[in-house]
Amino acid sequence: MPDLEIVHHAAPQALSTQLMAAPASIPPKYLYDELGSRLFEAICLLPEYYPTRTEAAIFQQHQDEIIEAVGLGRTLVDLGAGNCAKAARLIPALQTAHYVPIDISVDFLKQAILPLQQLYPHLPITPLGMDFSQGIELPKSLREERCIFFYPGSSIGNFQPDEAAQFLQRLTAASDQPSDLLIGVDLEKPAHVLEAAYNDALGVTAAFNLNVLRHVNRLLGSDFDTHDWRHIALFNQAEHRVEMHLEARRALTVHWPAHSRRFRQSERIHTESSYKYTKKSLNDLLEHARYKLCNTWTDANDWFAIVHARPAHSITR
Ligand SMILES: C[S@@+](CC[C@H](N)C(=O)[O-])C[C@H]1O[C@@H](n2cnc3c(N)ncnc32)[C@H](O)[C@@H]1O
Repeated sequence: MPDLEIVHHAAPQALSTQLMAAPASIPPKYLYDELGSRLFEAICLLPEYYPTRTEAAIFQQHQDEIIEAVGLGRTLVDLGAGNCAKAARLIPALQTAHYVPIDISVDFLKQAILPLQQLYPHLPITPLGMDFSQGIELPKSLREERCIFFYPGSSIGNFQPDEAAQFLQRLTAASDQPSDLLIGVDLEKPAHVLEAAYNDALGVTAAFNLNVLRHVNRLLGSDFDTHDWRHIALFNQAEHRVEMHLEARRALTVHWPAHSRRFRQSERIHTESSYKYTKKSLNDLLEHARYKLCNTWTDANDWFAIVHARPAHSITR
């Protein structure tokens, strides 16, 4: 098993400040401890959660064109790799030279790469445990390799559009070679479809959202009780995003070292935004991040897009 290099961990100092603020928030990266990653895997199997199966169907339908567009024999850098299942399907088709899964959920990533190593015993794998929200650092040897930055699952939607552009821009600086971008992006669609996807009937998304409080308790030494909180998910049309919140079921006070925070009944903690794009706002995002859109593949309903782009400066005129 290759060593899992831990480049840097999420620093929880800012978390205290965000919890003390009004309104309170918890960054969505904290949804992913080991249990959170497993619950997200379960969410991907839910009938209401259309993104995973829609994205997979686009890949299946357009695989040959996608492979021809991005080219063979590259290093595949899988941003927020999760269970690595999406990359596992692409690795042989892309004749991947080197696989670099990156994830903040380090214990889950350690387990996710084991079956991959069995499946592709000759493939060099360099797993990196990293919080990439403030930037991405690749080990020096990797900077020389021609990479495809693979960012599926519409995780780009967890950044505000300005931050998303910054994140994409930083990727170009992470490598010394011009690197392609292959991202999955969720598109705007009727509110009832979006809200059902984040409010599933079995309550798996509710468990995923509530679990963030247990993770925060471990990180801060706080005393959140999940029984006191209710999962809320809604489409905020004006902001083009689905929001997840945790709402206090009663007035209560939460304590952690040197802090206490009072919450009124029905007061909310904002735990995740998932921005939804149109083809136009997606193109604007890429331009803002100084990428040139090369190809877009979508499903018949235009619910989801797979986008191939290149840093604008690398395109020969
Ligand atoms: C929505 S899931 C997507 C998982 C998988 N790529 C997929 O498409 O099914 C987001 C993934 O990104 C990881 N992640 C979230 N925030 C992160 C951060 N700041 N740095 C590194 N990984 C992060 C999570 O642990 C999780 O595995």
